Amino acid sequence: VSRWLETDFPVQLDVRREVTSTNTVLKAEAEQGAPEGAVLIAESQTAGKGRLGRRFHSPVGTGIYLSLLLRPSCTAERSLFITTAAAVAVCQAIESVTGLSPQIKWVNDVYLNGKKICGILTEASIDFENGGLNWAVLGIGINIAEPEGGFPEEIRSIAGALFDGPCPVEMRSRLAAAVVSRFFALYGELESGSFIEEYKRRSFLTGRTVTFSLGNDEYRGVVTGISDEAHLLVRLENGEERAFSAGEVQLHKG
Ligand code: BTN
Repeated sequence: VSRWLETDFPVQLDVRREVTSTNTVLKAEAEQGAPEGAVLIAESQTAGKGRLGRRFHSPVGTGIYLSLLLRPSCTAERSLFITTAAAVAVCQAIESVTGLSPQIKWVNDVYLNGKKICGILTEASIDFENGGLNWAVLGIGINIAEPEGGFPEEIRSIAGALFDGPCPVEMRSRLAAAVVSRFFALYGELESGSFIEEYKRRSFLTGRTVTFSLGNDEYRGVVTGISDEAHLLVRLENGEERAFSAGEVQLHKG
């Protein structure tokens, strides 16, 4: 992977055959004082984590599983943009290596041909004294190919892979390197948030009818776009326009 890295950022790469979860391992290292720029890549994960306590199926050979350790100086609020930048970086990396053009399903899933091919999980330690972060661990999982036996039942209807067939190891390494390189390029723009324009352009949900859930509340509406703060703009059925900063979106069926 290091062969293909294109960044001036002081990246410290650690590639392992198998870990529980690259996020879990890197979080422990963050607590021990590991520096910003530490990157952990694993061939497989035995306890890969998804958002909302879900599992992230991480078999060997069919995915890229990596985490980056960051120590951003921005406020915790601004740090929401870390995930936004990551989604754009993954799209740029895929496009530069494969020529394919992925989209982003708010807030941080990457889609190709209507299927989710990448998930992002950011975990952070907040410094309550100054409202900033002690560290953030950004975890990225990309489905390169469909695993043998298919995707697990619970995600089968939405999951997809970047390639139809097996993916050469070199291609995987180049992709992982491109994700890291593109992310650190955008990380320098966290304050300006300049990448939000590309995020908007790549929005998979814009124009679609969705069911939006926030806690126990559920709304149905049409997504009209993404705001400069990366909030989801929805025109509800009663005509009201709402901007959501958090929540879960389901595409409306039927
Ligand atoms: C999601 O879509 O729910 C987020 C999935 C995030 C998966 C990646 S794989 C690398 C890193 N380590 C983990 O345990 N999870 C993230």
